[in-house]
Amino acid sequence: MSVQALILAAGKGTRMKSKYPKVIHPVCGLPMVTHVIKSAEVVSDKRPWMVVGFGAGQVRETVGEAVEYIHQEQQLGTGHAVLMAREKLARNDGQLLVLYGDTPLITGATLEKMVQIHLENRSAATVMTTVLDQPFGYGRIKRDTEGKLVGIVEEKDASSEEKAIKEINTGIYCFSIPELLCALPRLRPQNAQGEYYLTDLIGLLKEDGESVETMILEDSDDIIGPNDRMALAQVDRIMRERILKQLMMEGVTIVDPDSTYIEAEVKIGRDTRILPGTFLQGKTVIGEDCQVGPDSHLTHARVGDGSRVLHSVLEDASVGVNVTIGPYAYLRPGTKIEDNAKVGDFVEIKNSTVGKGSKVPHLSYIGDCTIGEETNIGAGTITCNYDGKSKHATVIGSGVFVGSNTNLVAPVTVGDNATIGAGSTITKDVPARSLAVARSRQFMKEGWLPPHRR
Ligand code: UD1
Ligand code: CA
Repeated sequence: MSVQALILAAGKGTRMKSKYPKVIHPVCGLPMVTHVIKSAEVVSDKRPWMVVGFGAGQVRETVGEAVEYIHQEQQLGTGHAVLMAREKLARNDGQLLVLYGDTPLITGATLEKMVQIHLENRSAATVMTTVLDQPFGYGRIKRDTEGKLVGIVEEKDASSEEKAIKEINTGIYCFSIPELLCALPRLRPQNAQGEYYLTDLIGLLKEDGESVETMILEDSDDIIGPNDRMALAQVDRIMRERILKQLMMEGVTIVDPDSTYIEAEVKIGRDTRILPGTFLQGKTVIGEDCQVGPDSHLTHARVGDGSRVLHSVLEDASVGVNVTIGPYAYLRPGTKIEDNAKVGDFVEIKNSTVGKGSKVPHLSYIGDCTIGEETNIGAGTITCNYDGKSKHATVIGSGVFVGSNTNLVAPVTVGDNATIGAGSTITKDVPARSLAVARSRQFMKEGWLPPHRR
């Protein structure tokens, strides 16, 4: 049975007080709506359709080709939003899953269950409902004395008796498309808000003698649609807890979940320990048996098995197997640290490769540089890669020993097994197997004391 998802995302979200449409605000590193798209993808192999209106350009820019867009010029209500998809629906006879772009906590598993119930019952529509202690603002589920669904009444149209109902409409539905198409043109904006209510379809389908069922959602967190920044923080926290729980179930140790922030797309191998104060963002991938943290911040980083990263910041950097990074290292974009290498304290590396087994143990700036294998870079070494106008490359071979406090004025090449004396400012290429010393000679005057001590 084919299932097509339709995500409603044309609304503004006024209470966010934002220049961006609500659905692109990030939750654990992904736009809210991207979480919804990912869940939709669990139940449907078709590209979701998404109704956009307010800030459509920004939504398209952020979400890209993951969905097919439908434009809703004026936001005349949820029913009107679905009407915008009428032409597309006419070419389809499967099921339509209606979702909101601002409910990032909805899971693929919940949607799967709802579609399954819908298909088993051969219903024209299935409404996902849940029970809330504070149902204010939601559409209420009306049932007859036998508990059969009768219809949905919106807060603004509800009598005080109806307002006391605690079972609410989550706004997630599954429709059989032919029956939906038959009822859709009959929606009328005759209500307190003058809107086309999608909820009125339930009554219309019942009038047609179609079967309409409900699925009651146990965990009502799943359908929180944050309307303001406070609720956004709450949703982010719930999502974060889910991500951490999933990782722990997969065999990752998270010493202090309260101070650990891991985004949705991060991958971590077994027996890796994440220590407190750690942020793992973007498409970061960490191997097995690693230790990351405390107080580390990795964005789009790759860390190989058995490596350690402590008190460090990595951005778009890749680290091999059995590497030590930090404490207090800063690896910037384009950095590659190969297996068994070491980058120590107060070292900044940008757009550079540090070869296997090489060490940059302390206080260095390495930029636009290639370092071979088993090379040692002394404390305080600086690649002078910028002449005020352009960046230049430094190439350092394998087995090289660079003495402490060396300046390498790029472009410059240091051959394999070369040695550079401490304190040198290297401006010319250093051939392989040679010694370069580029500093002024020590001046000595024996038997000398400062005037006041003579
Ligand atoms: C709707 C339901 C209500 C339910 C609640 C759950 C209706 C009439 N009411 O209420 O029963 O309890 O959701 O949150 O359906 N949207 C569009 N175009 C529009 C209007 C809305 O794309 O013209 C989108 C919004 O961006 C949003 C979603 O539809 O993602 C829901 O809209 P919203 O205005 O929040 O619905 P409610 O009136 O709160
Ligand atoms: Ca709403």
